[in-house]
Amino acid sequence: MASSVRTAIFPVAGLGTRFLPATKATPKELLPVIDTPLIQYAIDEAQEAGIERMVFVSHPSKAAIERHVMDDAKLRADLKARGKADLAADLQEAAFCPDTDDVVFTMQDEPLGLGHAVLCARDHALPGPVAVILPDDLIVGRGCLAEMIEAYDPATAGHMVATMTVDRDETEKYGILSTTGGSGRLLTADGMVEKPAPEDAPSCEAVVGRYVLDPSIFDDLAVQAPGAKGEIQLTDAIASGKERVGLSGFRFSGTRFDCGSKAGMLRAILHLAAEDPECRAVLAEAGHRAAARAA
Ligand code: G1P
Repeated sequence: MASSVRTAIFPVAGLGTRFLPATKATPKELLPVIDTPLIQYAIDEAQEAGIERMVFVSHPSKAAIERHVMDDAKLRADLKARGKADLAADLQEAAFCPDTDDVVFTMQDEPLGLGHAVLCARDHALPGPVAVILPDDLIVGRGCLAEMIEAYDPATAGHMVATMTVDRDETEKYGILSTTGGSGRLLTADGMVEKPAPEDAPSCEAVVGRYVLDPSIFDDLAVQAPGAKGEIQLTDAIASGKERVGLSGFRFSGTRFDCGSKAGMLRAILHLAAEDPECRAVLAEAGHRAAARAA
């Protein structure tokens, strides 16, 4: 059965200041975790979830994202001419073809916040609920979006956000749910606050970058006043629609890495390296060296 969630929005206009100078010329979404750029993990997750249309909300200075995502017939022809047909076929397999795939690039010219970025996708969304994926949040294991869509029931809650429990001293880094109960992977909630101080946080259930949202989110975003950091916050618009459409949290089964930070990126690389036979040998060598230094 086709999913009711047909559109995924990828907000990728951000400047990536936490990774300068690496992100001076390279969009942060193209930073690789070993050999695969962050954006590719996000796209793969959306495809696994049965998404039909991918909407990238980008920035004019980040044209490299489009070059990565879309098919490059010239590059493939050059590779074939050099006897590298296998490589050309792999690239074609991973890329979107403008004739057969439903992909939209739209621009967010000004950094007015995550909520504003999602609003920029409004005219490109297919009817029904929409998914939002933040590529900085790499989730390995079972596809987080697929499991959210499986659990999504708009009759109970039109807005669903992925959540994980964090230490209280970390609430200032996340949107935090005000939870009212829960069973299994689902949490019921009556509110959501953007980056509260630990003493003000309504719980320790943090929102990570996966959302399934009732389409009325666009109406709420259109009238949303700036919030934290003076930006139009997706969190605030979700909270303002909670009484009308309902709000739930979903505790995903995978492991999340904050690849918007150096430590999170390194953890993701080490995690995935441990699963790759070629890299595992290098990790073992590094482990020996560290043990020898400590001795
Ligand atoms: C954004 C959201 C925040 C969420 C976080 C997850 O914040 O505004 O609610 O918890 O992503 O990564 P950012 O990390 O972009 O500042």
